Amino acid sequence: MKLALTSPLPIDFQKMLQPHFDSIQVGGDLSCADVLIIQLSDVFTKDRLKELKSLKCLVTYSVGVNHVDLESLKERKIPLVHTRGVLTDATADLAWTLILAASRKVKPAMRYLEAGKFLGYSPTLFLGLELRGATLGIIGMGRIGQAVADRAKGFGMQVVFHSSKGGMALAELLKTSDVVSLHCPLNEKTRHLIGENELRLMKEKAILINTARGPVVDEKALVRHLQNNPQFTAGLDVYEAEPVLAPGLLELENAVLLPHIGSATEKTRHDMARICVEEAIRFAKKEPLQYVYPT
Ligand code: GLV
Repeated sequence: MKLALTSPLPIDFQKMLQPHFDSIQVGGDLSCADVLIIQLSDVFTKDRLKELKSLKCLVTYSVGVNHVDLESLKERKIPLVHTRGVLTDATADLAWTLILAASRKVKPAMRYLEAGKFLGYSPTLFLGLELRGATLGIIGMGRIGQAVADRAKGFGMQVVFHSSKGGMALAELLKTSDVVSLHCPLNEKTRHLIGENELRLMKEKAILINTARGPVVDEKALVRHLQNNPQFTAGLDVYEAEPVLAPGLLELENAVLLPHIGSATEKTRHDMARICVEEAIRFAKKEPLQYVYPT
């Protein structure tokens, strides 16, 4: 059985996989692979999947599966393995990194200091949002949404949520929340869930956090909103057309921006790699897979 990876993994995968596969290839022509390990930046459309004639099992080094055409896999009865569960805490922590940075105006404060403008303590310098008593609105109450909500208890925030299974109506959540954090998967229902109209419903000094997927937010509309409402802040780890950012976004002081590092702790990235490798081995050994995405 042949295994291919689109990119290397952050563990010694060769050594673990070698005893179970006839060949292991990293990059190049993937068309002969029986098992293929991909990354979230590898987009596998219907046409690209057609080229993978030998494919029998697809493994993605991510929890999100929006980069893969699920219908094609379903038709060909190809299981899709993803790394669910292991990146919950790391991603929830990063959402909180952005909530704290945005609420305490860390980006403009750092820029101010670095520009040599700090001339001493001032009672009015960079006044932010006090989190205790403020409302956190969570959109998408899966594992990560719940982990973000759990952490909110320690900060004394009120938590409201909107999800496909219940909670508050989206418009009400947007009107009520001081901080809105997105944790829904990207699919046809959630693409541009937050656009111009939704942003307009939010409070003037609200904070929007996105550690889910870029296209959940209409990024051009967000840039316009941030430009016209300097009191509004966004904290983003994901973008609509990664690695390209919408024009104007980078220049904004009220946008805290990170380069898609939600799951980037050493432990989490190793656990994700281990799941990919172990599942590939299970497949080779004809053992039941444990991380199949429900298609
Ligand atoms: C990260 O964004 C993931 O889906 O793993």
